[in-house]
Amino acid sequence: MRKNIVAGNWKMNKNLQEGLTLAKELDAALKGKTLKCDVVIGTPFIHLASVASAIDTKKIGVAAQNCADKASGAYTGEVSAEMIASTDAKYVILGHSERRAYYHETPEILKEKVLLALANGLTPIFCIGEVLAEREAEKHFDVVKSQVEASLFNLSAEDFGKIILAYEPVWAIGTGKTATAAQAQEMHAFIRKTLAAKYGEKVANDTSILYGGSANASNAKELFSNPDVDGGLIGGAALGVDKFLPIIEAF
Ligand code: 13P
Repeated sequence: MRKNIVAGNWKMNKNLQEGLTLAKELDAALKGKTLKCDVVIGTPFIHLASVASAIDTKKIGVAAQNCADKASGAYTGEVSAEMIASTDAKYVILGHSERRAYYHETPEILKEKVLLALANGLTPIFCIGEVLAEREAEKHFDVVKSQVEASLFNLSAEDFGKIILAYEPVWAIGTGKTATAAQAQEMHAFIRKTLAAKYGEKVANDTSILYGGSANASNAKELFSNPDVDGGLIGGAALGVDKFLPIIEAF
């Protein structure tokens, strides 16, 4: 079933103590509140276990920001989906444009990561989005469609139903240049149509599609009011409760 979700992506920010403080502050701020969306925080790997045991994970889901493309073994420095699941994290952000651009994650690698995440009971928050040159060349729909096809369309309808998508136009990430509500809605509707053609209307309608890229307390309400925008994947504005809470409450 389609859900509204506000997910924070802390990226490589906050040491362990700072991260625990932020997670506990958010937990305290949400206590006793009835929310109209699910809340997720994506922390660095080393924070996962401590954060998950310090907060009410029924109210705030915990996400990793990546996982290995191998199940286990001699892969020095990697963290497997199974390890992530063992911390009580329930989500993993995959395919973020920063991982695609700086760590050369290809659609094929991401396909493996998605399969391992699902096999270990994690919910992938799978990111897609075009760079500025692609939008200017009016290739943004083709780019996003091929990102979805290349890493996810091997899944059965049942497994695809476990995926959360996040449309993050790369030109909007960390730039203060948010996509307009109309641009977000146009792309989200296109993505849903693409899903419907492959998996049918029900799967398409049940898939949560989040928007990410300079979303904040002042634009969240307008973005979230679009019929095909089911929430946000928030970077900078997830690093303080004062900025993150109003986005959660925009629903
Ligand atoms: P900003 O909200 O900082 O633009 O980052 C968005 C993002 O990349 C979330 O994954």
